[in-house]
Order: sequence, then C-alpha cells, then structure tokens
Amino acid sequence: MLKDALEVVRLSPAPMPEAPLQGPAQALYDALSHGAPNAGLLARARNFLNVRLQEVHDRPSDMPDDLRECAAWMEGKAMRVGRLYADYLAARRRGGPCRYFTSRAHALYFLRSIAPTKLVDGAWLYGLVDHWDDTRFHPLIRIYLEELGDGVPDRNHVAMYRKLLAASGCGRWDDLEDDRYVQGTIQLALAYDSEHYLPEIIGFNLGYEQLPLHLLITAYELDDLGIDPYYFTLHVTIDNLATGHARKAIDALRLAMPAGSDAQAFYRRVIDGYLLNDLGAGTESIIRAFDLERELVRILRRKSVFGRHMHSDYCRVAGKSVNEWLADEALIPEFLAQLQRHGWIRRHRDPNDSPFWKLLVGDRAAMFGVFDEYELQIVHDWIAGDAGRGDADRFGSEPERETRRRMSFRARQTLLGGEETRTADDAADAGDFDAPVRALQAALVGRRTRRERMTMLAPLLSPARHASPEGLLATRLFSEELRSSY
Ligand SMILES: [Fe+2]
Repeated sequence: MLKDALEVVRLSPAPMPEAPLQGPAQALYDALSHGAPNAGLLARARNFLNVRLQEVHDRPSDMPDDLRECAAWMEGKAMRVGRLYADYLAARRRGGPCRYFTSRAHALYFLRSIAPTKLVDGAWLYGLVDHWDDTRFHPLIRIYLEELGDGVPDRNHVAMYRKLLAASGCGRWDDLEDDRYVQGTIQLALAYDSEHYLPEIIGFNLGYEQLPLHLLITAYELDDLGIDPYYFTLHVTIDNLATGHARKAIDALRLAMPAGSDAQAFYRRVIDGYLLNDLGAGTESIIRAFDLERELVRILRRKSVFGRHMHSDYCRVAGKSVNEWLADEALIPEFLAQLQRHGWIRRHRDPNDSPFWKLLVGDRAAMFGVFDEYELQIVHDWIAGDAGRGDADRFGSEPERETRRRMSFRARQTLLGGEETRTADDAADAGDFDAPVRALQAALVGRRTRRERMTMLAPLLSPARHASPEGLLATRLFSEELRSSY
C-alpha cells in the first residue's frame, strides 16, 4: 500500500509555485524595492509615512527633552542592556533554557520574518549621500557606507543577510504576514524622501543604531542551534556607544540641529522618527508569535492548493483519498491527526521512524523537492516534538559551547583578514555578467571633477542597487572619494 502510494506520487508532476498573498505594506515595499520611485509612488510612500508618524506622535518616548542629555541617556540604556545580558548569561551557565528559540524551526521562522527589514538594512540613510559635500551629514553617510560594507561584498550587510537566508534554507519569504513588511517599508520610504523627512531620519537612526538586548540574545541562541550568528554579532560590535554607530547617531543629531526657535520643532520631529522604530512586528513579538503546529498547518494549506490535484486515488488515508483531504484547507488538522492514527507519522520520536517523513527527504523520496528546507525543518521539528526538545543542548556542555563561540569568532576574524575578498572590479573581465561594472568604469573615465563622479556614483548606492556588482564598486569608489575630501 505504502509502496503503491510512493510510486503514484513519484509519477506526479512537480507542484506549481504558490501565488503570494500581498498586504498593503508588502505591496508598497515591493514597489519601492525596484529603485527610485516616480511621483505617484513617492506620494504613496509619503502618505504611508505620514500615517505612521501620526500613529506614533502621541506615544510616550523615553528620549530626553534636552539634546544635551542624549549621550548620557544612551549610555544608561547601554549599561542596562549590558547588565541584563550578564544576567541572561549567568542563567544560561546555570543550565537555564534558551529564552527565545524553542527549536531550530523557531529560529528559522525568525530569520525569515525579519528578512524584509534586514534586506534593506541602512536604507533610511540613502538620501543623505547626495549631501556628501556637507560635513554635517558625514556621520550619517559614514553609517550608511558601513552598512554597505564600504563596497566589500563580504561586509555588505544586505549581501550578508541574503547569504545567511540562503545558507539556512530560507531563500523564499514572500508569504509573510503584512506586519513583517512595515519596518522595511518605513526604511525605504525614508530612503527616497530625505529632503522631506530629515529630522525623522535622524531620530529613526538614533533608535535603530542602539544596541538592544534582543540582538545579544539572538546571536547567542542562533549559535547554540548551529546557525551562523555572525550577521548579529557584527552588529553588536558596530552599534557600540564608544565609537560605533550609536555614537555617530548622536553626533549626527548634534550637527544637524538648527539654532534658535526652530530647534524645538526639529527635535519634536526627531522624537517622532525615533518612535517609528516601534511600529510593525518587532523581534520579541515575532519570536512570541511562533506556533510550530500553526506554522505547519499554514504551510500545508498553501501546498494543498496544488497538491490536491497531484495524488492518485490509490493514496488513501482513513477512507479518503489524499486529494480529497487536500481539497478543503479546513481538513488539514484532521488530516494530520489521521496520518498519526494510521502510522504515517509517529510523533515525539526520530522523524526517520515516520513513513511520511521518508516521502519528503532522501534521494529517492517520492515528494523530494515539494517542501523547501525551511518547510522541511518545520515538519521535522513538529514530528520530533518532545524528542527534539533541547536541541540547543545537543551541541555540548556550556564550557564547550563557550569555547566554540570564541573560536568561531576568532576563526572568522582570521578568515576575514586573510581571505582574498573578491571586489566588484576583480570581476571586470567576467563577460556579460559584469557588463554594468565595465560600463560604470568606462563612464567614470570622463568624469574629471569629484562632483561629477559623486553625482554618477550616488544612484548606484540606492537600496535597490548597492549590493549588485556595480553598486559595490560604486560604494567603494564613493567611500574613497569621501575620505579623500577631508
Ligand atoms: Fe546593518
């Protein structure tokens, strides 16, 4: 019976990709992801931002009323985060559980959910690059260029996050709930309208560039689960208050504040921009929103739209064909229950004991390729259930994990220092794939003044283009020009 089912499923055509479900924030995010908006799109983005700003305007803020107190305020917050993290580490060393992630699937769910935000990392500062000849904005431009890795591919935060998603099997994330797109959309809307929202950009930056406790805990727990935490540990070091982005964020505010009676109105708008950080889905709310079984059912519902036509009537469970089970999304939970009752799924033990799991994985699996890596992790962890709990503890004792954590950090520094980092112009002779790089190099030859070169380079630093080969080259050249302008 099982063998018949395997044969029939194996003969079925590959499933079609599911259509994405788009909400309003995602629709605007996608539109702004293509590059500089036209007047109509810019008006939509401005309307979106104005509504968001109204939403936060009357909310309480912890920012001090006086700009001169900002440095001390940020220092106090950083100290508090340091103390809370020390408490967390002490609890973990005493054998306490992970605070955030209950399983590897949970961590991958988080990585996917923040993808829309992380793939536009730094975008809110893009509009400042046109003001490269005004030293008041250099702290903000320096932050932006550091987000872009100064044009070095392995240090470009967007490229790094893309790699992390791919390495974790989370390359597809277009089915996220709409609130996951709110932060990224705010960032893209600010990117293309800096002339209109300068105080808000400075305030947003001030909030974004402070080191939060959740970043430290996330990095620690991803490492525990065997997921590369480098993207997160990197931000721990660059957001520091002594010399990093947090310090530059305060410098930027101080330099941009107008004198006299305009100062108060400007500062009020800075606070509104700061409060924009609280909108949409945040780290902790995303982590709390995870429900393994609900996520499994959601995935199966999406698969069922195409899967209901893919199985033969020979595939029967509890008197119904698989196509009949999949014909109605509401039946999915009952279908899962019947798969357990009839021995296809044996929960709370090694998933390899379940015939259903064997349909999904392995070279000759009948449904190989139907589920992507993230979806397989969800299925795996749900089947493993209680037997999979404590995954985090399977990676050795705490002293062993601590040693590995330090070693991996050192190894990575060595790697970054010693690696032949491929820059965009190394690939200038790579044929059609690098034609835009060659075109940029050729176009720059005729640009004799710094202003001409910067005007040509700046559009390539946009959120849509900076992680491309020509964008990386442009970033590197822009960065060098800016340094030599001092
Ligand atoms: Fe970043």
